[in-house]
Amino acid sequence: MLSKNLEKALNAQIRHEAESSQIYLAMASWAEVQGLEGVAQFMYAQSNEERQHMLKLVRYVNERGGHAIVSDLKEPAVKFGSFKSMFETLLKHEVFVSQTINTLVDISLSEKDYATHNFLQWYVAEQIEEEAQARTILDKIKMIGDDKAGLYLFDSDIRNFTSVGKPSEN
Ligand code: FEO
Repeated sequence: MLSKNLEKALNAQIRHEAESSQIYLAMASWAEVQGLEGVAQFMYAQSNEERQHMLKLVRYVNERGGHAIVSDLKEPAVKFGSFKSMFETLLKHEVFVSQTINTLVDISLSEKDYATHNFLQWYVAEQIEEEAQARTILDKIKMIGDDKAGLYLFDSDIRNFTSVGKPSEN
């Protein structure tokens, strides 16, 4: 049985994951209207993944005798300036999510809830991967700079990121 404190913290995480999904959906839509098909595809896939992260938490909270709450969400930005700044925003957001996961791990340990601690390890591993992926993408973007041909190649290259090295949950 989850403690009230942990239930509340896990519900806050459900909200973070749902907001992540909305942010990446907004990024997908923005990239799509910019004509960046590959980037849009990548972001739609990221948005789906975040929804899966949220659902996994919902099921867990309910399974452990809590009540997963579906709450209202912060409105995401609709424009992202450049695709470089969009990926910087993505990385920053993932670093934030990693911190929230770490806080949850801390709480689960302090309450000796080892089941939740074990459950959270999947998220810890996922965050390492998501941050690394965002950094790899940003490194590529920095290499391209303002080169239009490079951007075209990048847009086609990024499609590979959606199917490689990600947990198969979609
Ligand atoms: Fe579910 Fe990318 O944090």
